Amino acid sequence: MPYAPYAPTRPRLHFTPLEGWLNDPNGLVFLDGEYHLFYQHYPHALVWGPMHWGHAVSCDLVHWEHLPIALSPDELGTIYSGSAVVDGANSAGFGDGALVAIFTHHRPGDEVQSLAFSTDKGRTWALDAANPVLVPPTPLADFRDPRVLWFEGPGGGHWVMALAAGQEIRFYTSPDLRRWSWASSFGAGHGSHAGTWECPELLFLPVDGGPEHRWVLAVSVTRGAPAGSSGLQYFVGDFDGERFSSSEPPATVRWADAGADFYAAQAWQHAPGGRKIWLAWMNNWAYARETPASTWRGMMSVPRELALTRDAAGLHLVQRLPAELTATWPTPRRLGGLIVAPGVRPLAEPGGETLLIEATLGLDDSTARRLGLHVCAGPDGAVTVGYDQTAGTLFVECPQRWRPMAPEALAQQVPLRPEEGLLRLQVLVDTASVEVFAGDGRVVLTNQVFPHPGHGGLALFAEGGNAAFPDIAVWVPGA
Ligand code: FRU
Repeated sequence: MPYAPYAPTRPRLHFTPLEGWLNDPNGLVFLDGEYHLFYQHYPHALVWGPMHWGHAVSCDLVHWEHLPIALSPDELGTIYSGSAVVDGANSAGFGDGALVAIFTHHRPGDEVQSLAFSTDKGRTWALDAANPVLVPPTPLADFRDPRVLWFEGPGGGHWVMALAAGQEIRFYTSPDLRRWSWASSFGAGHGSHAGTWECPELLFLPVDGGPEHRWVLAVSVTRGAPAGSSGLQYFVGDFDGERFSSSEPPATVRWADAGADFYAAQAWQHAPGGRKIWLAWMNNWAYARETPASTWRGMMSVPRELALTRDAAGLHLVQRLPAELTATWPTPRRLGGLIVAPGVRPLAEPGGETLLIEATLGLDDSTARRLGLHVCAGPDGAVTVGYDQTAGTLFVECPQRWRPMAPEALAQQVPLRPEEGLLRLQVLVDTASVEVFAGDGRVVLTNQVFPHPGHGGLALFAEGGNAAFPDIAVWVPGA
């Protein structure tokens, strides 16, 4: 029977546009109790078109209030990706503490950087009369996505812009957000060059919760990611205010997410407590225009808290779910000491289309070759998240009919070593996506999945032997 993709209902935890198209997060900044989320937006159709900056705010990273569109195309071009800063010292002259957006004005074959500002907490915006503020010496087709931050050095501070230019990231510096000088470029010979480099993100992250910090340069790439097509790679290293240097051998390629749908991530500047929290466009350029849609298309990932951790292979990014996500949900239901015989054992749980499962897999006590969870389970199948003991891999599988935009069923594997015979998994299901976190956030797989309504079931499975689940907790949101 042919499968008719349904128009998805809105997820509860993931940001979606009110109507029309959404791609990259832009201008993520925290100001006066509000997390601002701007985003690439085309309000007039369900496909990418002349870009605007949509806008929403949240006090808790979960509930979003939609605000009017912040920036719309003008005579200099359409409004591509960029960032926003709080100009505390009024360096640009827009006013003390003005919110300044730095974005790309795009025309085919010609990309330049421009400014807009708001002095009323982002409610209204004006364009700078002096736009553009940064143009390349000769017109460039790929010269975009400025990521601006304040760098405080020993001899004072300055603004830094990381900008994607073809297959490198260029760094510029400025005293006032207006006059930009090229400082250095990074990229040649480093990481994956299978596609165009886009949307740089430059972050200063703590290592293992201690005083040590290192710089991370994240770069989205249009092709060549492990799950196919677009994805987000990152480099760990140092940044001295002008130059980024990677601490890794140039051939090293690290991907932030082993799933298919994580792109153009950006972190909030000035988040309280110095927290580094980012989210991404939960999509893939390979099929973003073809996902099931109704009146809106495109979602963000859930926000994730970032840090670095060190192991024998060096420093890795870790991404963890922020406590805010389930903070107001009822206490989770806990189950312990389950042994599952070969087959599938449904859990007598409420289940649902939005839920978080934390499961510990007792690998040393399991004879099963493969074991794990079925989520989104129902008459039409399930999404499988589990561990393959023979291969030593964490895997996620989803039938192709639930990803009608993709040519093949989803079958992702990532090598993962259990710790003391145990593997802890967090699986977040939210109507049209499954995000898997393992190894305390070292491995993340983010995927859109579009099961029909009525697929909120939850089950444990074991293949080729018994499976032990010493601990399971299931959170479901209140009404
Ligand atoms: C990344 C990207 C950016 C660009 C924007 C246009 O997804 O291609 O490089 O600014 O989307 O919408």
